Amino acid sequence: MGDTQQIPLCNGRELVDGGVAVPFDVVYAGQTCRAFAIRHQGIVHAYLNRCTHVAMEMDWQPNRFFDDTGRWLLCSTHGAAYQPDTGACAGGPCRGGLVRIALTERDGVVHWHTDYNLQPVAF
Ligand code: FES
Repeated sequence: MGDTQQIPLCNGRELVDGGVAVPFDVVYAGQTCRAFAIRHQGIVHAYLNRCTHVAMEMDWQPNRFFDDTGRWLLCSTHGAAYQPDTGACAGGPCRGGLVRIALTERDGVVHWHTDYNLQPVAF
């Protein structure tokens, strides 16, 4: 599995419950992809911005994934709904859950964790 790194992403204040996501780029399975972090019921979560119905980005406006109730993460293309705390498919045409990215929030800063197939983009 290799060592995981914790990469600073943003201040915790930037993530409001049910609010706008913080985007970041990653290399997932060798491909550069967009990812996003959100806060749901006080806890931060992150996922690859890739729907499991058709592998495309989901946000209906830049960095907006929550539905009006703040209960679901939505894909803007055909309306798939995902659980914000697990990424699990909860409704619509999604086929399985979103790819999760581990996060840690400490001292007011949110960090994302690399993994064997998840790396930062090399600048
Ligand atoms: S591409 Fe997401 S619901 Fe179809």
